[in-house]
Amino acid sequence: GKVGVLYGGQSGEREVSLMSGQGVHEALVKSGVDAHLFDTGRQSLAELAQAGFDRVFIALHGRHGEDGTMQGALELLGIPYTGSGPLASALAMDKIMTKRIWIEQGIPTPAYAEVRNAGELDDVASRLGLPMILKAPHEGSTLGLARVEQADALVQAWQQVVRYEPVALAEQFIRGRELTIAVLGRGEQARALPIIEIIAPQGNYDYEHKYFSDDTRYECPASLPADLAAEIQALCVRAYRVLGCEGWGRVDVMLDEQQRPWLLEINTSPGMTGHSLVPMASRAEGVDYTQLCLNILAEASC
Ligand code: DAL
Ligand code: MG
Repeated sequence: GKVGVLYGGQSGEREVSLMSGQGVHEALVKSGVDAHLFDTGRQSLAELAQAGFDRVFIALHGRHGEDGTMQGALELLGIPYTGSGPLASALAMDKIMTKRIWIEQGIPTPAYAEVRNAGELDDVASRLGLPMILKAPHEGSTLGLARVEQADALVQAWQQVVRYEPVALAEQFIRGRELTIAVLGRGEQARALPIIEIIAPQGNYDYEHKYFSDDTRYECPASLPADLAAEIQALCVRAYRVLGCEGWGRVDVMLDEQQRPWLLEINTSPGMTGHSLVPMASRAEGVDYTQLCLNILAEASC
């Protein structure tokens, strides 16, 4: 049947999604799938309802694509879609809700505070320590994220973050190694792919380094003792399951200097660009980009 690749959209990650969608579309077409690009930032839900798609591959990132709203619309339209359902998508898009659930489930995640006004910043910084991370709780690709080194930079960082949304998430900074772990499948079948380590210049893996720069190095599988790697993978699968994630996702993790993992967030519609990490982890298992797209599509449901 006819497959829609939903891409673009209207979030801050529109440009990333255009790249992800084009990659997925090309891979599906190359495999003989009758795939069509559909830009949810330019075309309406009414057009989506009438497009005649048997299934859709969601290559959208951020609001109205990754946050459960599009998933809910597809449920109403009865069109099977890739990835997590409305609830898990909404929870994972909200980094504060994610933390609440993980903490309740005993999954390690850095200490945090919600910051509603600039007057709270000094208190929060003395509790969490500096450096401290300030981020917009619903953004992706490092948009609306600042690392604050010194107290006199708090207000300026706050102002950058609240351009994205009014309540900021302040998070303890974990010094150590930056890892990311792709998870595929659902429920008891969910499993982690080989761990990727991201080695960015000055630890600065921001929007530019994620998509445009070639000076970030990646190691996959990351060089870790086998038992530690297995422990981190199991933790990520559990973190994915407790949020109810399905299909695929990618968990971002910091490994501190005592070799303890701290989970930062789950991306339920991870990047599929030429620079992206789930395809890299998949390749390390011998499954190329095209086959990965077909595998994710095969699990589409509603
Ligand atoms: N939010 C970007 C697309 C990612 O996590 O890959
Ligand atoms: Mg993210």
